[in-house]
Amino acid sequence: MPDRRDVRARYDTLSRYYDVIAGWTEQPARDRGLARLAPAAGERIVEVGVGTGRTAAALARAVGPLGMVVAVDVSAGMLRRTVARGGPSLHAARACCGDAVALPLRAGAFDAACMIFTLELLPDGEMAQAAHELARVLRPGGRACVVSLSSAGAETMARRWYVRGHQAFPGALDCRPIAVKPVLESAGFSSISVDSMRLWGLPVDVVTGCRT
Ligand SMILES: C[S@@+](CC[C@H](N)C(=O)[O-])C[C@H]1O[C@@H](n2cnc3c(N)ncnc32)[C@H](O)[C@@H]1O
Repeated sequence: MPDRRDVRARYDTLSRYYDVIAGWTEQPARDRGLARLAPAAGERIVEVGVGTGRTAAALARAVGPLGMVVAVDVSAGMLRRTVARGGPSLHAARACCGDAVALPLRAGAFDAACMIFTLELLPDGEMAQAAHELARVLRPGGRACVVSLSSAGAETMARRWYVRGHQAFPGALDCRPIAVKPVLESAGFSSISVDSMRLWGLPVDVVTGCRT
């Protein structure tokens, strides 16, 4: 696994091309995550691993002027794109450079949290910590949605080839299929539901849960 400086440097560089590479190709999974999270006007929502801010901008529109969206990422380059996309509804003060495993945010401050194609970038030993951080910043009853490549279910040709690609070129294909549900369970989330879909033949899970 690359260390954080490598991850930050890679995504700072990638931020210039990220929308071309992954903008529309991954949009169906982002849309599904957004629908499952069901943001409402006036809510306070945090997105961790915000990338170029496609979902954060949609969240900002949904929560409206009485709500708040905080966009967290390790990459300053990605955050600049997010701020540019979000316009006045997501201003710089709400973009936050930080790490998923140690969120620089107050406990219990949010109604909802989401993480899209980011949990599966973390080393195995850090995924549970990131889930605990999501739980920590949520108020009791707050909800989380994690969208991730999935290791569950029947093997698909696309996943087999993707995993080979990931093993050969972990810097380029850095996400890996994981099982999200047990990670959220380990952090104390309840009422967990898994909505499975395919993205270019790759199994993707949209997992939601509540902080008890
Ligand atoms: C694969 S991209 C997904 C971006 C966005 N969620 C999307 O759907 O387009 C992963 C994002 O997570 C960020 N990231 C990687 N490791 C992180 C960490 N430990 N904490 C916070 N953000 C991280 C990267 O900088 C990048 O913006």
